[in-house]
Amino acid sequence: MCGIVGYIGERQAKPILLNCLARLEYRGYDSCGIAVAGGKLQVHKDAVRVGVLKEKLPRRLEGKIGIGHTRWATHGGPTKANAHPHCDCTGKITVVHNGIIYNFQQLHQQLIEEGHTFTSETDTEVIPHLIEKYFTGDLEEAVARALAEMEGSYAIAVLMEGRPELIAARKDSPLIIGIGDGENFIASDVPAVLDHTSRVVYLEDGDIAVVRKEGFQVKRKGKVVDRQPHQVTWSVGDAQKGGYEHFMLKEIHEQPKVIRDTIRAYLTADEADSNRDIFTEGGEREILILACGTSYHAALVGKYVLEQLFRVPVRTEIASEFGFLGQTSARSQAVVITQSGETADALKAIKKLRSEGCPVTVITNVIGSSATRLADQVLCTQAGPEISVAATKSYTAQLMALYWMALPLARIDLRRKDSLIAELRQLPGRVQRILDDEEKIAQHAAQIAKYDHVFFIGRGINYPVALEGALKLKEISYIHAEGYAAGELKHGPFALLSSEAPVVAIVAPDNTYDAMLTSIKEVKARNSPVLALVEEGDEVIEEVADSVIVVPKVEPLFSPVVNTVVLQLLAYYAAKERGCPIDFPRNLAKSVTVE
Ligand code: M6R
Repeated sequence: MCGIVGYIGERQAKPILLNCLARLEYRGYDSCGIAVAGGKLQVHKDAVRVGVLKEKLPRRLEGKIGIGHTRWATHGGPTKANAHPHCDCTGKITVVHNGIIYNFQQLHQQLIEEGHTFTSETDTEVIPHLIEKYFTGDLEEAVARALAEMEGSYAIAVLMEGRPELIAARKDSPLIIGIGDGENFIASDVPAVLDHTSRVVYLEDGDIAVVRKEGFQVKRKGKVVDRQPHQVTWSVGDAQKGGYEHFMLKEIHEQPKVIRDTIRAYLTADEADSNRDIFTEGGEREILILACGTSYHAALVGKYVLEQLFRVPVRTEIASEFGFLGQTSARSQAVVITQSGETADALKAIKKLRSEGCPVTVITNVIGSSATRLADQVLCTQAGPEISVAATKSYTAQLMALYWMALPLARIDLRRKDSLIAELRQLPGRVQRILDDEEKIAQHAAQIAKYDHVFFIGRGINYPVALEGALKLKEISYIHAEGYAAGELKHGPFALLSSEAPVVAIVAPDNTYDAMLTSIKEVKARNSPVLALVEEGDEVIEEVADSVIVVPKVEPLFSPVVNTVVLQLLAYYAAKERGCPIDFPRNLAKSVTVE
């Protein structure tokens, strides 16, 4: 998705902007650009990577104030003309923008009739023209008047030739100010500024900030408001590869630590009893869990966990569908899971839930994200920054949060509860054993990489794991993959089974075991090669499947954690075998801030 950066201070802006943009590359983009004001404002942009833009820039592009952008095309293709920054007619006002302006056609038409000329197909370009229209000497006021005309979502940074300030504003799209010493930054994401500062201010919807080198002022509806700085605990190292070939591999390997940190944070002194108020006690209730993509798969696991332990009905919904179908009642309590806290579909669902009076708990990995500001309660996962587009450690952290939510109120006897907590504490070690043996998984992945179609099957709590395994594989290796509840294969997908379509079967030693064995036999009868994930000690499946990956023994309720780690590695090594750009898969973005 698009990324915004801005700098004002005593240093040359060009290298700083390029460095900040490079830190945003993980979000996915198709073009980029910067504007720097020395004496004169200069804009350089193209449909290229940041590294290529850097090579193309004039050596003498000097100025201590500037803005930059990575664009992920929505209105108009990925071309040089459509890349940001965009300028007004005079070429003195320039803007970078994340979001979508819904009424841009109308504004565009109106501005043309008033004599403005446009050079791109973007919705963004109306912004500098609106600012030009309203500018009478006060840039902040002109921006405020321009924003008042716009419907939709935006985070913007504005730079005007000859002015000693940057203007930043947001509505439904994230934007922060990074606070330095005699210099300040603007960015859409914290990692962009981490090389320079760890003190940030999260702007809120409706905020307009004037950012100067010696300080900043935030206004809302014309009145000055106080926005306190936060100290970011992530380090630059957390957001770097640390010797791994890809962020994804590094993040997969961080999972034992993530689980350990989560257990430490959640299961403190009074063990699992500290979150009694997440769900209101007593009476009939319904829990609704909403999310997108991988987070939705965590939600599906959460449904099993909460229903088994908490014994209340749980409904899961894809957040992007909730606006069309979703119903709530006075009994509903919602949990929205979003790693980034910025997914537009998730934010829209939260707003709808809140407008219907439904209390919302958000599970997110990003403190200060938009979702945290909309929620009634926030449960922060302890995954640290996740850079790879493919979600891995954030998913595991979400599962941990869901286990933690369910355990305190679990309607199970105390001995079972204690044993589950003890089992949770063993999980980091179990996951580490999988990672220590990753070479074997890489060998299986090399086989999988030869096929164009792969099915994943599971049952019960491992059905969502099959969905996640398929999503991970298709996302980064571009192999067509589908996840199914094992019993569903015979209701249609059987038609596609052949020696050319392997099936990855996730087998857990729970009440689904016998049914999984039957499913594997049925698949074998249709000539599909079967790779089964089995618990150590299992000899029955080994007899039937073509090959097996042995997974450490865990409590079945926690099997999604270990099985998913195996499937993450399977996808990673299959993608590597096929030479795919693992961290930045085509057409995808880390946080999907458009609907
Ligand atoms: O930030 P979110 O958890 O709201 O993101 C939701 C999905 O876009 C995300 O999980 C996506 O499916 C992953 N990149 C898949 O690996």
